[in-house]
Amino acid sequence: MDSSSIRPSAAPVNPHVAALPAYNAGLPLAQARAVAGRDDIARLASNENPHGCSPAVGRALAALEPWRYADPGCTDLRGALAARLKVPADRIVAGNGSEEMIAALCRAVLVPGAEVVTVVPSFGLHEIEPLANGARVVKVAMTAAAGFDLDALEAAIAAGPRLVFLSSPWNPVGPALAAAELARLIAAVRPGTLFVLDEAYHEFADPGAPDVLRLLLDSGIAFASLRTFSKAYGLAGLRVGYAICSDRELARVVTAAKTPFNVNAAAQIAAVAALEDAAWMEASVARLRHERERVAGALRAIGLAPAPSQTNFLFFDGGRDSGALAQRLLEQGIVVKPWREPGYERFVRATIGLPGENDRLIAALAALASP
Ligand SMILES: Cc1ncc(COP(=O)(O)O)c(C=O)c1O
Repeated sequence: MDSSSIRPSAAPVNPHVAALPAYNAGLPLAQARAVAGRDDIARLASNENPHGCSPAVGRALAALEPWRYADPGCTDLRGALAARLKVPADRIVAGNGSEEMIAALCRAVLVPGAEVVTVVPSFGLHEIEPLANGARVVKVAMTAAAGFDLDALEAAIAAGPRLVFLSSPWNPVGPALAAAELARLIAAVRPGTLFVLDEAYHEFADPGAPDVLRLLLDSGIAFASLRTFSKAYGLAGLRVGYAICSDRELARVVTAAKTPFNVNAAAQIAAVAALEDAAWMEASVARLRHERERVAGALRAIGLAPAPSQTNFLFFDGGRDSGALAQRLLEQGIVVKPWREPGYERFVRATIGLPGENDRLIAALAALASP
């Protein structure tokens, strides 16, 4: 629908929600096929795992009883996570994707007019969910070298916002905070601020990366760490993620802020099975890291400059309007995500796919780059 045809609703809608910007989601497969006129679409827009998921997931799902309500407490899943993470289960809240935990945290913590600090460019929901709750969002710009602007972030955090949303490894750019950098930001957190570290790409961080959760747990600040089964574990379609909270009371309030049966029964079974097959996930991540570096090298060879990445995607200035570039790629059956935030309208984010899909992306970009 053309936005000029949208009229104010006659219903008494929440003005904060009515004014929300749209979420910049990856193009649906059917639409991509219709535009490209081919079936073999390279889906490189949503940071899914191109290897699929552990075969143990399919086997475990044989026990699914769709006619039963799911366990609202996600007891098995939270228990398995607690054992793996060495965190009491009563500090873990499972969500319908980690995106639901972003929404629940905002609902649990924010009041109208509260200040939220995040970065630009950022994951869209770190802005959309605070706005839905009537908060004011302060966005700290990244540095020209595609890094976190630590001085600016430290100052913004020390000013005492109610909530801070950062992702590390960082979507959409790719780098992760080093231990000393995170320690500096943690030290700036004042009482009355909840520090949320969104670790959706945690499993892709470089081997030897700092134990971020331990740093947070030892810091004594109010925090939530967000993780997901959508990326490294390959369960994006089932929708399951979780929040690890600094204390039991925060977890209780976040639980109160979500719907009771939020994680469906299939998702709970699948997530436990996926978690148990760590070997599958680790092998998949190792292959994707290797492929990421191959693609980054190939992009550099054609004059593009992807930001350093500890994720399963690359972010780069495509040299022209990102929407136009994405459209040209789409015509060849390749879906990437064009960035829209002010200052980043020439940037695209490309997920690391299977080698053949990546080769198609590289060849298409090379052809567009040559005069
Ligand atoms: C930084 C970040 N956080 C959260 C999410 C939401 O993931 P999900 O709801 O699938 O767990 C994503 C998905 O792309 C993401 O990139």
